[in-house]
Parts: sequence; structure tokens; C-alpha cells
Amino acid sequence: MGDLTLEQLDAARRDPVVFSRVILGEPLWDHQLEVATSQARYRVLCAGRRAGKTRVFGVLALHRMFAVPGSRVLLVSAGRTSVVRTHKEIAGMARGPVSGTSIEDDQVMTLTLSNGSVLESVTQSVNAVRSADVDLLIIDEAGFVEQSVWESAEPTIGARPGSRVLVASSPWRGPGHFFHDLWRQGMEAPDAEVSSWHWPSTVSPFVDAHWLEGVRERNAPDYFAREYLAEWTGATGSYFDSDEIDAVTVDEPLLDPGEPGALAGVGSVSGGVDWGMQRDAHALVVVAALPEPDERGRTRYAVRFIEERYRTSYEAWIERLVELGGRGGFAFARLCSETNGVGQMSTQVLARRLWEDTGRDVVEPLSTTAKLKQDLFGFARLLIQQKRLLLPRHPSLLQQLRALEFETTDSGVMRIAVPDRIGHDDVAMAFAMALQPLMAGELVPVPEARVVTMEDILEDDLTTGLEAYQQFRDSHLDSQMFGFPSLTDWRLP
Ligand SMILES: Nc1ncnc2c1ncn2[C@@H]1O[C@H](COP(=O)(O)OP(=O)(O)O)[C@@H](O)[C@H]1O
Ligand SMILES: [Mg+2]
Repeated sequence: MGDLTLEQLDAARRDPVVFSRVILGEPLWDHQLEVATSQARYRVLCAGRRAGKTRVFGVLALHRMFAVPGSRVLLVSAGRTSVVRTHKEIAGMARGPVSGTSIEDDQVMTLTLSNGSVLESVTQSVNAVRSADVDLLIIDEAGFVEQSVWESAEPTIGARPGSRVLVASSPWRGPGHFFHDLWRQGMEAPDAEVSSWHWPSTVSPFVDAHWLEGVRERNAPDYFAREYLAEWTGATGSYFDSDEIDAVTVDEPLLDPGEPGALAGVGSVSGGVDWGMQRDAHALVVVAALPEPDERGRTRYAVRFIEERYRTSYEAWIERLVELGGRGGFAFARLCSETNGVGQMSTQVLARRLWEDTGRDVVEPLSTTAKLKQDLFGFARLLIQQKRLLLPRHPSLLQQLRALEFETTDSGVMRIAVPDRIGHDDVAMAFAMALQPLMAGELVPVPEARVVTMEDILEDDLTTGLEAYQQFRDSHLDSQMFGFPSLTDWRLP
């Protein structure tokens, strides 16, 4: 790499195709060449997985940075997961005269070259996007980027002479969304302004036809058509409207169960537990009724507590849940726990541990099917639209709710999820599960009443105490399904 002649360096500076071969050491594939040599200001790819879009965008980004010192390239992707991945892929391509320094912080990942050129990579939620003053804007996973983000970013970039915009995604969203509309425009009438390409995964010489047949057999037809053939299938979109969520987001701080007395007066609550796999977090979301009903006398609710734990063993997470929901903790009327996959065993252990600790059977195993998710998120949406469910300003919760996508397949099933290449949905799932008990009956807000403590019922022997409690509870069962707080601090109607 050190042996480049001045002529080669000069040719690489003028031509991204030469740059890719000579400096990055890998020639572009034919379908990538078309994009790299196009002069269109907006270049739009609707592509299947592994088609080679990150590579060609990476080449164009690094080429611009190499060729014009002091250039600024902005990469925007829908979620944290996809930003990190794409940034690392592009930074990983940089070598020789374009090797740079990569810095990562919570908000922005940057790659800086010695000539002063910078690549900044951010998620769509970062404000920098809105005032982007850049030479090259790359929008990755564009089908998941909100229309409003595009509308505020685009004029700044469009107005800048010589700036370029590269947009790519699998086919998500439809008419009215910039990705769909720009792509259509560039397919139907490509010109110097907008040009588009359609790349099914099969355009890549690396994608093996035999392997792809296997993928087709293992997956739903809609999924295969969208993710690999890059064909627009049923309706897709973002599940919650951003404004809807903003309208119920409040500045109220979350409860801190570690603080003495913090949970007094909260009353019985419902909770949802999501069990993390390798990469995503364990999550607990707690919802309580608010003392004041709405103007129509309906109970209002608020998310009062959220915990998200990464890299924690199942044992440690169960112990943490017992600490939070056991004696002295939250008074769970129901704690819904996901049983899919690893959740099955953990849910059983959690149920037993909480029973041992409180004498109450509060854990409700939930197997999250597409149907259940549709019901739970539908209910969440209803409460949110009625302004009967307040949300805290918790970054993961808000981000994940905004990133939730629905997809209606030809068979009529609606799938709701944060696509895993965009980000996580652990908190959103725990949130949805916490609402399940509210679908069956209302949580009762705490009435002003006498406080009965453990000592009032517990005798010296715990078993007797538990029996006493159970008898007491049974004799009052018909009063209110969800009126039973934990043993330590409970109030009688
Ligand atoms: N021109 C190329 N030469 C060699 N390998 C390539 C080229 N373009 C892409 N690849 C490789 O093919 C795979 C998929 O490419 P990528 O750009 O990541 O696709 P996408 O972003 O569309 O999923 C990656 O392993 C990438 O390194
Ligand atoms: Mg990619």
C-alpha cells in the first residue's frame, strides 16, 4: 500500500472506482459501479440483505473524505444497533492513506482522517441531523427513518452546492414516506437529480442461490420477498405516531425503590418482565394507577418504574426482581413474565421465589404471540390516545416505542416489533406486558385508608403468617381483583 505512485493517487482522487480498487484493495462489483459512477444528486437503493449497499456507500463516503480535505459526511440510521454496525463496517474499510481515528461516544461515532475530513454517524433521534451541514448525507435503513427527520434535514443539505445524498433500505413504508417516493421517482424517471436501483440479494456474487433457496423455505413468503427480493409487500409502518407519544410524556421522575418510603402510597401495581437473550437487556416495567381519574371517571395510569439490565445472569436478574417485588418492594397485583425461549424456566423460578418471599402468587406467565402483541400494543395505543397512560422521559422506552414497526402480511397477521437490525425492544415488550392485567380489570388506586403492616398479621412463624394472610385475602377476594398490595405495607379499603 505504501508503493502508490503519484499517478495512482491522483486517479484515485478523481474516481471512486479506482479509489476502491487501488486504495481500499477491493474492486466494486458491476451493480455497485453504476451507483458509484452515477452523477445523480440523490441516489436511492431499495435492496435485499447482503446486496452490497454498505460497501458501496462506504466507498463513496471514504472517497469523498479522501479526495476533498475537510469534507464532512453524515451517516444517519434509524436505531443505535444499525448505526453502530454500519459505522464500524465503513471504518473497517478505511486503510492506507485513508486510515483514520475512530471515536465512539453515546451520541456520535466519528471517523477522522488526517486531512481533516470527518465521518459522523448518528441515529435519527440526534438533533445534529436536523441542522446537518454536510457534503454527503447517507441515510441507511431509510424505511425506518421518520418522515419528519427527513423533512427537517433535507432542505439544509439540498441547498448546499455540490452536496450528495445516498439513501438505502429494504422496502419498508409506502407512498407518502420519502424513501418510497424518492425510490419510485428515481426508478420511473431517473435524471441528474434522482436515480434509483433495485437490488435483490441475488445481485451479489457472494449470495449463493442454493443457500437462498433454504432461506426461502424456512421463512414466511412476505418476509423473504421483502428482505431478500427487496419487493414491497403488505402494509408496513411505524406503530405509534410520535406526536401521540409526546402528548403523554411527562417530566415526572421515576420511583426509586432504594429510597426509604418511596413506594408508600403507590398502591398495587402491575409489571412486565422481559428476559434478555445474549445481546439485549432484561427489562422490568411497572405501571400504577393514578389517584385522580380522568374527566370521564376512567382510571388513569402511569409508568412509574423501569429497569433495564445488560450483561446480567438470569439468577442475578431474578434476585433483583425479588428485591423489587418481594417484601418491602412493589406491591404487584400481577407481574407478567414472558415465557418465550429462555423465559420459560426463569418465569417458573421467579414465581416460586416471589411466592416464598411474599406468600403471594403474582407471576403471570405470558407467551408473546403475534396475536397477543397486537392486543397489548393495541390496548397501549388506546390508553395513550385517551391520554390515560402517562409515560416518563425514559430514553429506552421512548426510543423503542417510536421504533416499533407493524407489518401486515398477505395472510392478514400483523407483526409488531422493533426490527432487530434497528435496535432492541426489551423495554417496549416489558411495557406492553405490564398492561396485560389492565385489560382484564382495572388497578385500584390507593384509597386513603388505614395502613396494615406485616406485624398486624404475621406471628412469629412465617407459615402461620402466610396462612393468615391467605385466609384474609381469600375472604376479601371478591372485593377487588387487583386490590391486594404486598404484605409489608398494605392498605385496607
Ligand atoms: N465489491 C465488493 N467486493 C468484495 N466484497 C464485497 C463487495 N461488496 C460487498 N462485499 C461483501 O459482501 C457482503 C455484503 O455486503 P454489504 O455491503 O455489507 O451488504 P448490505 O449492506 O447490502 O447488507 C459483505 O461481507 C461485504 O464485505
Ligand atoms: Mg449493510
